[in-house]
Amino acid sequence: MKTSWYHDALSSSLETSKWEHLPVVIFDHPKVAAARVAAEIAELIRERAAQNRMAVLGLATGSTPIFVYQELARLHREEGLSFRNVTTFNLDEYYPLTADQPQSYHRFMQEHLFDHVNIDPSRIHIPDGSIARADVASYCDNYERQIAEAGGIDLQLLGIGRTGHIGFNEPGSARRSVTRLIHLDRVTRLDAIKDFSSEDRVPRAAITTGVRTILQARRIVLMAFGEHKADIVARAVEGEVSAEVPATYLQDHDNCLMILDPAAAAQLTRIRTPWLVGPLAEMGLAWSDAMLRRAVTWLAQKTGKAILKLTDEDYNSHSLQELLSLHGNAYEINLQGFRQLQNTITGWPGGKPTATATVPQPRPLRNSSASVYPKRILIFSPLPDDHVLSMGGTLIRLAEQKHEVHVACQVSGSDAVPDEVLQRYLDFHRQLGGAADGSEASSAKKLKAAIRRAETHSASRVCRVEAGRLHFLDLPFYERAAAGYRKISPEDVETTVQVLREIRPHQIYAAGDLADPHGTHRICLEILTQAIEKIRHEPWFAECEAWLYRGAWGEWPLHEVDLTVPLSPAEVARKRRAIFQHESQKSPFLGADNSEFGRRAEDSARATSRLFDRLGLADYEAMETFHRWELAR
Ligand code: F6R
Repeated sequence: MKTSWYHDALSSSLETSKWEHLPVVIFDHPKVAAARVAAEIAELIRERAAQNRMAVLGLATGSTPIFVYQELARLHREEGLSFRNVTTFNLDEYYPLTADQPQSYHRFMQEHLFDHVNIDPSRIHIPDGSIARADVASYCDNYERQIAEAGGIDLQLLGIGRTGHIGFNEPGSARRSVTRLIHLDRVTRLDAIKDFSSEDRVPRAAITTGVRTILQARRIVLMAFGEHKADIVARAVEGEVSAEVPATYLQDHDNCLMILDPAAAAQLTRIRTPWLVGPLAEMGLAWSDAMLRRAVTWLAQKTGKAILKLTDEDYNSHSLQELLSLHGNAYEINLQGFRQLQNTITGWPGGKPTATATVPQPRPLRNSSASVYPKRILIFSPLPDDHVLSMGGTLIRLAEQKHEVHVACQVSGSDAVPDEVLQRYLDFHRQLGGAADGSEASSAKKLKAAIRRAETHSASRVCRVEAGRLHFLDLPFYERAAAGYRKISPEDVETTVQVLREIRPHQIYAAGDLADPHGTHRICLEILTQAIEKIRHEPWFAECEAWLYRGAWGEWPLHEVDLTVPLSPAEVARKRRAIFQHESQKSPFLGADNSEFGRRAEDSARATSRLFDRLGLADYEAMETFHRWELAR
C-alpha cells in the first residue's frame, strides 16, 4: 500500500523511534481514523478488481472496527464499491457459542458488514463456535489451510484487548501459534460482560487464528480507541517483544501500522512526557501552562520531592533543560506549577454564598454564574452509584451548602445486579405474602432496576438529596443492550435534553471516567454531549459550567485537574455510608482486581490527598478531583 498517510506515519515515527517500535498515527477522532482505514481497504479491493484478482481481508469484531464497517457499507451503497472479489477470514469466535446467539461474531459480522455489501457468502469465513470439542483441532487445521489456499491474507484488521491480545491470542501465546482453541483471560471475560450481561454467561474459551497466522498477513492495521486502551497500547508500542503482551509481536512485522485516537495514545512517551523525546518545538508543541504543570508534577513524583524543593539539578538530569532555560531557574518553575495546583483547591464547589466584589469566589469557580447562590446543580450518574463513588464527598458538601442538588441516573443499572441479590429480595417479598417470582427475564430486569432505585433513594437520604430531585432516565440504549450492541438513539438524547431543560442547572457534573471497559460511561457522556449540542444556544445555558469527575476506574492526572474538593474525616465516613447503601454492588462482580468499588473509590480519594501532601500542598483526609469540561456555547 502506498497511501501517503502511511509514509507520514513512518517519517513522524523517526524522532520517536527510540521509544516507539511500531509506526503510529494518531487521528483526532475514531471516525476520521476509521474513514482512512476504510479508504485503504477500498483501494486494495479496487486495485485487485482491476487485476481480476481477489482481495483477501482478515477481519476483527468488537467495538473498535464498527466505524470501518459502517464506512465500507457506505462506500458500497454510495460509491459502488463492490465486494464481489473479496474473501474474508475472521480472527475468532467464542467457544462454545452457536452462530445464532446475539453475542456471536457471526451475528456481529452480518449486522455490521455482510448484510450491507454484495459479498458472496461462500467467501466468508468465521471460526465456528458450535463444532464438537473432538473436531476442534482438525477444524482449526482446515481454517489455516483455507487461508493458505486463498493465497494468504492481504490486509489484516486488528483491535487490541486490555490484556494485549490480538485476535484472542492471550498472554502466553507463542509467536509460532496458529489457529486453535484458547482459554480466555479473566480480564477479557470481564470486558465481555457488557455483551453477555453476567460473568457466568461469558464463554471460557474461543477459537482464534494464531500469532503466526496474523504475522503472515502482508499488511496489518491495528486500531485502538479510548482511554481504556492507553496503557496496553503504550506497552505494545514501546515495550520489549514478549509473549506477555502478544501485540508486541507486531513490532517484528515490516508492514504494520497502529492507528490511535488521542485517548488511546495518551500513555505514549511522546504524549505523556514529550520532553524525554526531544525539544518540544521540534515536535510542534509549546511550553504552555498545562505542559509546565505536567512536567513539574511528573518531576516531583519521579524524584519523590515536594514541588517547591525541586532544584536546577533535578530539571537538568531529567531532560527538562529546555524548561529551565526558558524560566531561568528551578524556583520560578516550581512556583508556577505549585500555584496552578493550589488554585484548584476549594471546599466550596458551588461557590461561596458570601462572595462579593471584594471577597472573590474561589479561583476555579470564577465564571459568569459564580455569584448565583444557591445554585441549581445537576449531577449525571451513568449507573446509579457512580456519582456517590466518585464525587460523594462533593455531593455531600453541595447539599450541606444548601444548593439545589439534582441527580440524574442515566441508566437503570439492572444488568449489574447479581441474580442472588434479586432472589434475596424476592424471598423477603414472599415472606410478606407477595407473589412476584422474577423468573421471566423481562420482569427480572425490572425488579433489578427497582432494587437499584431503592438503593439510590437510600444513598440520597444519607447525602441529604431530596427524593423529588432524583431523576431516573432509564436511557433506552442500555435497556435494549441485551438484544445486540449498544447504539445511541434519538430517544436517549431527547430524554437527556428534557432533564436539562427542566432543571436549567448552573453547574453540571458528569462522569468523565472513560477508562470504564464496559463503555457505559463513554456512551452516557456521548449522549450528554449530543444533548448539550441541542440546548447550547438557549439563554440559560450561557451561565452553566460543567465538571467531569472520575474515581471508580482511575483518577485525573494532576495536570488535568481543574477543581479539587477536600474532604474531612466526617465527610469521608458519610460518603462511605452512602456507598454502602448500594448493597447490590458489594459483590466483586465487575472489578478485575476483585476489590469492591466502594473500597477502590475511597482508596483513590485518599491517594489523591496523599499525593497533594507529598507534593507539598495541604494534607487532607481525602480529595475528589474534577476536570473542567469546556463546552461550546
Ligand atoms: C475481536 C478480537 C479482539 C478485539 C479486542 C478489542 O475479533 O479479535 O482481539 O479486537 O478484544 O475489542 P474492542 O474493539 O471491543 O475493544
